[in-house]
Amino acid sequence: MAKRVLVTEPIIPSVIEELQKHFTIDVGERGRYNSEEQLKKDISPYHAILPMLSNPITQSVLSEATNLEVVANHAVGYNNIDLEAAKKHGIKVANTPGVLTDSCAEFTLGLMLAVARRFYDAQQYLLDGKFESWEPLGFLGMELKNKTLGIIGMGRIGQGVAKRARAMGMNIIYHNRNRVEKKTEKTLEATYYSSHKKLAEISDFLTLHCPLTEETQQLIDAEILSIMPNHAILINTSRGPVVDESALANALHNNSIGGAALDVFENEPEVHPKLHSAPNCLLTPHMASASYKTREDIGMLSANAIIKVLNGKPISEIPNLIQP
Ligand code: DGY
Repeated sequence: MAKRVLVTEPIIPSVIEELQKHFTIDVGERGRYNSEEQLKKDISPYHAILPMLSNPITQSVLSEATNLEVVANHAVGYNNIDLEAAKKHGIKVANTPGVLTDSCAEFTLGLMLAVARRFYDAQQYLLDGKFESWEPLGFLGMELKNKTLGIIGMGRIGQGVAKRARAMGMNIIYHNRNRVEKKTEKTLEATYYSSHKKLAEISDFLTLHCPLTEETQQLIDAEILSIMPNHAILINTSRGPVVDESALANALHNNSIGGAALDVFENEPEVHPKLHSAPNCLLTPHMASASYKTREDIGMLSANAIIKVLNGKPISEIPNLIQP
C-alpha cells in the first residue's frame, strides 16, 4: 500500500502532482490545521506531513503521529515545530533554505521604499480625491541613497537585502549571532556591530532577518525603539514576536520613530489594534515569499525531502534536513 502524506493546505499544483507520483496525498482545507487539536485528531495515518508555518507541530501532535517519518515544513523558518519532540520520536525535519532568498530580499527593499516614500498614504490621498494639483511640499519622503541600513540577522536573506541595498547606494551595518566571513563582509561592504543596540541607534532603516529564538523574542522592545532616530524606519519580514508590537505602536503614535513596515505579527493573523491607526505604518499579510516561482520552489524542496525520506534515501542526499 502506498505511503500517505498530508499536505496541510492547497499549495502550487505541480508540487502535489510530484508527490502523487509516489504516495497517496491528502490536502487539507485552508486553515484547517492551524489548530493543535485538529492535527492531533488527523495525523496518525500519515507517514509524512508537509505543514505550513501556521501549523503547530508540537509535542502533543507528534505523540499522536505513530506512523510519521518526516515533517517537511513549507517554510525556511521552523519555529512552529518542536524539534526536541521530533527528535525524541525519531521523526526527521526539513525546511526550505535558499529558495526564498531573492523573493524575500526584493520584498524587503520594496517595503523600505514604500514606507520611505509613503506609497500607501499617497495612494489613499489620491483615491480620496485630494490630489488637486502638483504639490511642491506633498509627501516629502526619505531617499535610500547614502542612508545607513542596519540589518539584524545576516543569513541568506539579510545578505540578499545588503546586496540590493548597496546597489541603491546605502551604507550597510549588521548584527548577527556570529560575525560573517571577512570575504562576505568585503563583498557586501558591510560593517559588523557586536551590539544590536548600537546598530539601532545609528540606522536610518533597521531591517530584521533573524530566526525566532529565545534570544530574539521581543528583541525590538520599547528600549530599542526609544534609541532609534526619530526618522528611522523599522522593517520586519522575519517573525512577528521579534518585535514588541505594543511598544512599536506607541513609538509610531508618539512619532519617536519615522515609520514601519511589518509583514509578520506577534499573534498572526491578529494585528495589534493600535497598529491599524499608526502613522506611516505599512502592514502586509506575511507574503514576502509570495511569488509563484518561489512558492513552487519551496513546495518542491519540501516534497523532495519527503520523497527521499519515505523512499529510504541516505540523509546525505537530503541537504535541507535540519534534523536527521
Ligand atoms: C518562511 O519561509 O519562513 C517565510 O516566513 C514564509 O515563506
